Amino acid sequence: MKMTQKIDTNEVELCKSNKIFFTNYISTAKNKEIIFILKKLGKLPSNFEGTSLLKELALSDNKAIKLEAIKNLAKLSNIDLLSFFIDVVKNENNSEVRREATSAIGRIRSEETIPQLEKLLSDYDPNVILQAIRGLLVFKKNENIKKKLLSFKNHPNEIIQQVINTEFEETLIKKSKTDHTSSPEILHNTVVNGDVLEVLKYVSDESIHLTFTSPPYYNARDYSIYKSYDEYLQFLEKVFKEVHRITKEGRFFILNTSPIIIPRVGRSYSSKRYPIPYDLHPLLIKMGWEFIDDIVWAKPEASAKNRVSGFNQHRKPLAYKPNCTTESVMVYRKRTTKLIDWNIKQYDDEIVEKSKVLGDFETSNLWKIDPVFDKVHSAVFPKQLCDNIVRYYSFIGDLVFDPFGGSGTLGKSALSHQRLFFTTEKNHEYFERIQENIKKNFLEENKYQFYTLEEFKNKGNK
Ligand SMILES: C[S@@+](CC[C@H](N)C(=O)[O-])C[C@H]1O[C@@H](n2cnc3c(N)ncnc32)[C@H](O)[C@@H]1O
Repeated sequence: MKMTQKIDTNEVELCKSNKIFFTNYISTAKNKEIIFILKKLGKLPSNFEGTSLLKELALSDNKAIKLEAIKNLAKLSNIDLLSFFIDVVKNENNSEVRREATSAIGRIRSEETIPQLEKLLSDYDPNVILQAIRGLLVFKKNENIKKKLLSFKNHPNEIIQQVINTEFEETLIKKSKTDHTSSPEILHNTVVNGDVLEVLKYVSDESIHLTFTSPPYYNARDYSIYKSYDEYLQFLEKVFKEVHRITKEGRFFILNTSPIIIPRVGRSYSSKRYPIPYDLHPLLIKMGWEFIDDIVWAKPEASAKNRVSGFNQHRKPLAYKPNCTTESVMVYRKRTTKLIDWNIKQYDDEIVEKSKVLGDFETSNLWKIDPVFDKVHSAVFPKQLCDNIVRYYSFIGDLVFDPFGGSGTLGKSALSHQRLFFTTEKNHEYFERIQENIKKNFLEENKYQFYTLEEFKNKGNK
């Protein structure tokens, strides 16, 4: 009996060159062995005689055999197989098999396949449409085909949109105008005391490399009073749209929030919990941020507000309320067709080398970091959290931004990792706290710029 592992290269070669050997081999082999040999066939010779056997296998009851047989038939790029592939797409129900057969039609690379591929553009399965698009992209210089493909730029399926955007980038996407690694000097190690929305009016497009922020918590602290939750979300939406505008192509925006609780107004009312991260997420996606990761910042339970003690006493279902020990650190990237590699390649090798994240790093998305307390500000980032973000998501010399500066923790972290920082803070007392924190921690020779809104306006970045 042939054992899967024992199929030797000679047998593979014989299957490719000798139709009778191939047929005999398949007729006695078990499904597992057939799949194995089909995977091993590799490049098929021009005089390959096993086409009809592969066609039979492509109609087998076993899905994996079908798939492997179609993949091998596709390697032949044979126009005579066109009607066979069309029949597979028509008669099969399995999405993977239909997708593979459509891909096989594309691989024929003959103009004769164009009408068939065009028909498949109206298939019900986006996977089939994608393969039909890939097949037609071979002919994208043909104006009619280009027009047809471009009509898919707003297709409801996001992967189809992405493929069209990538392929027709010059036609569709606004190109970055600025140099990727540099940033405007006026923003270097700059703190502006003012409302972020006012300040950003004077910051030009694509100025910054990374934003990490913790926005005001809806009506949970004195510094953040809004008329309604809707007004609060609308305010943050405006701010994050501006952050999107001033962020460089393909760079990151990292948002720290958590659901908050507004205590009940009296014994006959209940407290209300607001799911801030979940409400912000769809707004961020809509404005052009791509979701990358959800990191969880976990704090020791002792540091959390005690919500569980009532339940601990009565143990009645429905009234369960856990202590909340985590916050979300949501990672987004400015949507682009460019890969991360493109961003990295914008930097000199020396900068990439020096920016490498050496030593320990967080290997999972659960980051256990103790909270810290500041004598002036009631809700500050632990520096460790900022250090992780700065090291993992920026290069030396990059400009790192926090629209809600607070006590300036991100600035401190940026400076200690040879990055530049820019921050805005509305409250004058906190603005002074940032100055104190920055000056106390870093040598005067690093030039800092502390401006009022008026001064910043007059300096003019835009
Ligand atoms: C959660 S705190 C940020 C704390 C900061 N991450 C730190 O480590 O110190 C949010 C800050 O946003 C500021 N803020 C609120 N609304 C603002 C606005 N419209 N423009 C600028 N800053 C604002 C508040 O004064 C507060 O200091």
